[in-house]
Amino acid sequence: MEELVGLCKRRGFIFPSSEIYGGYTGFFDYGPLGVELRNNIKQAWWRDFVHRRDDVVGLDSSIIMHPKIWKASGHVDGFSDPMVDCRESKKRYRADQLFFAPVVLDGETRGYVAYVEGADQPTIVKLAKKVRDSLDQKQAKLDEDKLINEAIEFTEASDAVRASTLGPDATKVGTLTEPREFKLMFETKVGPLADDSATAYLRPETAQGIFANYKNVVDTGRVRIPFGIAQIGKAFRNEITPRNFIFRSREFEQMEIEYFIAPDADWKSLHREWLDQCIDWLVSIGLPRASISEDIHPADKLAFYSQATTDLMFHFPHGEQELWGIACRSDYDLNQHQKHSGKSMELFDEATKSKYVPHVIEPSLGVDRTLLAVLTAAYCEDEVPNDKGQAEKRTLLKFSPKIAPYKAAVFPLLKNKPELVERADALYRKLQKRWNVFYDASGAIGRRYRRQDEIGTPFGITIDFDTIEKDGTVTLRDRDTTEQRRVSEAELLAFLEEQVDG
Ligand code: GAP
Repeated sequence: MEELVGLCKRRGFIFPSSEIYGGYTGFFDYGPLGVELRNNIKQAWWRDFVHRRDDVVGLDSSIIMHPKIWKASGHVDGFSDPMVDCRESKKRYRADQLFFAPVVLDGETRGYVAYVEGADQPTIVKLAKKVRDSLDQKQAKLDEDKLINEAIEFTEASDAVRASTLGPDATKVGTLTEPREFKLMFETKVGPLADDSATAYLRPETAQGIFANYKNVVDTGRVRIPFGIAQIGKAFRNEITPRNFIFRSREFEQMEIEYFIAPDADWKSLHREWLDQCIDWLVSIGLPRASISEDIHPADKLAFYSQATTDLMFHFPHGEQELWGIACRSDYDLNQHQKHSGKSMELFDEATKSKYVPHVIEPSLGVDRTLLAVLTAAYCEDEVPNDKGQAEKRTLLKFSPKIAPYKAAVFPLLKNKPELVERADALYRKLQKRWNVFYDASGAIGRRYRRQDEIGTPFGITIDFDTIEKDGTVTLRDRDTTEQRRVSEAELLAFLEEQVDG
């Protein structure tokens, strides 16, 4: 992760937000390359799930909506996480990501340590030794097995356990508070009044904008059940512990679809179909199939309105974590809005001549998490021969041409030969009309290739003397294999079209 964060900063993909003021936890800015990658991910998603399907239409709803929407959806009363504060270090933890384990000395439990999910064994042992030392038991034998294998979620900790627990960043025991609910929605005020009636929320998901507009789409479009409404947009959550780079942030972007189906539809098969389509899409943008797995939520852990939820998990640098949630949300949301707004959410099904409130399947994906997954999968190091034929280490990003920030880079072999420069510039301008391409004339050609490898440009195109003196062909270099072949301009255009837009 550290290498990835460093590369992202160095090459202009992602910067910490407000860095000149020391950064702002949970917020990030996307630089020149990051914004291209991000836009390409969003465009690929929109193209594949909206333009290339007959049954999905798009929407762009406002970020701030009537507060009653969030009351109806259950977010005002229920969208919270249990949090634990440390009175000593002033740090705050999500209780469901905090674990406590017994400090067993010479066979007797003498206290507890609390650590954040994912902490490594040496960190946990170090905490336990602090407890041992504080008890003046330096010689006692610490049971590391119990310490590592008997950890329990902090939400289960009793008053007595909390009183004798050493927190992850504390020096004394008993400084962690009882878990308390922490509201995740950001509040703001709308209009000139500052009282409670002016309270509004930054949306924590784009989904409710879809439910709130579902009737408008049904009444004005030509959609017929089953159909989906897709939306890409910002979402905001006051996460207690934003961490792991852009994996969990406070401002992020979602790509969501609400797919409306008849109440008696075979939702299990449709859910499976959506899961398969989502996996195929992730593979199509370059994620290895082997890095994607499914986490089926057990029936007793499902939200009361959910019939089934499966998360697509990805092997991120910090472990196997949720990338894409695909839930069957029944008719819960539409029924809630029908009840709270007094407006009918029923539609008339031409095929069966019946009226009903449809059910939904909801594939919900984060743009930023997808970008992190793409970066994780693309990052690699290998060795290639340099200009002198010696093996040299290189860092490269193996982005799929579909989402790479630059699709190709054009190079005149020598920058002091006007005929080469002119020809390269003409080709660059021509390609630029269709794709985001890069032009570079400075430095040795090997160094220029390397710079592009590091930012993930899949193809290098070199104009040399054969181009201008012989047959007009150019050298086309592949980033991953470094193989080079000569192609005509027509072949080049057809190749790029197939690789980038295919
Ligand atoms: N409408 C359903 C919904 O919002 P969710 O599981 O809370 O469900 C869906 O979020 C997706 O949004 C997640 O799978 C993840 O990709 C992304 N996401 C959620 N919270 C995020 C955060 N704090 N930072 C970045 N991405 C987040």
